[in-house]
Amino acid sequence: MHFPASVDAPVRNDQAPWNKFNNKAYVAQNYLDLLPADAEILSKVGGYFSRHCSRHSENRSAGAGSPVLGIDMGAGGNLYPALAMLPWCGRITLFERAPENVEYLRKQCGQVDENWDAFWKVLGDEEGYRDLGSKWRVKFRDVARVKQGNLFKMGRRNWLGFRRAAGKYQIGTMFFVAESISTSLVEFQQAVDSFMSVLAPDAPFAAAFMEGSRGYDVGDEHFPACDVDQERVEKALAPYARELEMARLSDADHLVRPGHTGMILACGVRRSGK
Ligand SMILES: C[S@@+](CC[C@H](N)C(=O)[O-])C[C@H]1O[C@@H](n2cnc3c(N)ncnc32)[C@H](O)[C@@H]1O
Repeated sequence: MHFPASVDAPVRNDQAPWNKFNNKAYVAQNYLDLLPADAEILSKVGGYFSRHCSRHSENRSAGAGSPVLGIDMGAGGNLYPALAMLPWCGRITLFERAPENVEYLRKQCGQVDENWDAFWKVLGDEEGYRDLGSKWRVKFRDVARVKQGNLFKMGRRNWLGFRRAAGKYQIGTMFFVAESISTSLVEFQQAVDSFMSVLAPDAPFAAAFMEGSRGYDVGDEHFPACDVDQERVEKALAPYARELEMARLSDADHLVRPGHTGMILACGVRRSGK
């Protein structure tokens, strides 16, 4: 007998229908127009990266003059985390699992759609972004590359005992991923662990989370999420991060996406050690 899956049933990452993730519906729902919540988050992230990179121009992390490697984990249909890293990167990996998102991202690497102009404008005047000016589209085409894969495998050791891609990236972002790919809090922490494992010591990062999410619909499919709050996010990141700056956005404007109670933004620097 077949029982339809309940919205509240536990769903692990491997059980969710990523092969049916409808990219067109997701982008139309979230990113065809710039929503106030995204404008606020992007402005905070842009300000953070810009300040960090201008302060640290003397060391080997992002901002030191020579271009660095960046990663956006679980990029999906969202280019703005990658845009926020663009001025300092010689290569940005858009890491993603779902086939339709991979196809969309590959197309964007050839020619960025016009809806992303409004997002770039938010970054416009800050140091770093200002210097790129109208050349941002060409730069994005030159540096962004898509890698299809499963983020849970990135932190695993290969047969020689080395972690794949460990410490490879000097700047990174992960937006609405760790809490939005499984109902399991264990997988939430593992996703944070994987993201942190690929960042080099001193790498600045930005990560955004839906607060209190019960899952979300894309097209005809339901996708799992786990219910996290600021305390849980901070606890998950703290062992890996220094100079952690947390922000919570919960105004009515930020609740345009149903099924959650707010958004949490964390910016910080990858500490060495763990
Ligand atoms: C809620 S969406 C967020 C997408 C995008 N970062 C954004 O800000 O809109 C979650 C993304 O994580 C991707 N994803 C799910 N499981 C993954 C995995 N194991 N490895 C890599 N990406 C995964 C999904 O395909 C989807 O694009």
